[in-house]
Amino acid sequence: MLEDNHEDIITKALRGQGVGKSAIAERANVERSVIDRILRGEVLEDVIACIAPVLGLSAEKLLISARKAWSPKPVELTGLKRFESDFGEMSVSAYIVCEQDSRKAWIFDTGTDCNSLISFIEEDGLKVDSILLTHTHRDHIYCLDQLKCKFPSANIYVHKDESIEQVTQIEDGFQLSLHSLKLIALHTHGHSAGGLTYLIEGLPCPVAIVGDALFAGSMGGGMVSYQDALQTNREKIMTLPDNCVLCPGHGPMTTVGEEKKYNPFFPEF
Ligand SMILES: [Fe+2]
Repeated sequence: MLEDNHEDIITKALRGQGVGKSAIAERANVERSVIDRILRGEVLEDVIACIAPVLGLSAEKLLISARKAWSPKPVELTGLKRFESDFGEMSVSAYIVCEQDSRKAWIFDTGTDCNSLISFIEEDGLKVDSILLTHTHRDHIYCLDQLKCKFPSANIYVHKDESIEQVTQIEDGFQLSLHSLKLIALHTHGHSAGGLTYLIEGLPCPVAIVGDALFAGSMGGGMVSYQDALQTNREKIMTLPDNCVLCPGHGPMTTVGEEKKYNPFFPEF
């Protein structure tokens, strides 16, 4: 299931662009109550198509979202595994990337329950090299203490703008390698101040762990800066190769190619 419906996307864009419901109703030449109906999930196609460009969204892609006509093709990639845990009505994802020869692994975020992740590591006999945090919103680091106790020799990394005690601070361009795997950290801020995307080379195709910077068919809210969130996504994620697998903090995995086709926040593609 996708993380965001059309009403979530429109809400994020309204907030991000600083456009009020009355203003958008006026632009679309409809009553404000019509906008309220859309924000409650109603699919009023003509109005949705009319307000999309005012909000910098693609009308065509927003209508695909409203019709629930797309979800990304399931991703199966050797060396990459996703772990979902509950967070209120949502779920949050943590990931493991494993180097096949050495059986060493990186963990990305923790989720709210890391027991299945720990079992997977134990059953597969993986050695945890590092724990890398995309950002420090609670649902992403909830189990950090548990993982620290379980894997005391693992290095832990976070962006310097979201520092946590006893965690190594890194910034844009930080690199790490693990035998055949290479990783580079990209500062994709806007949803959070120190949001990081980790781009990994060495698996069968490029993989980017994006945290809440981008979701399949949507993006995390621009909680710090909507414009920065859009810009860093444009510059650092949407410029990756089309076959690059994107691993968001919420919702299914996707690819850059699919996001170009279906993500309403990027009308330029
Ligand atoms: Fe977040």
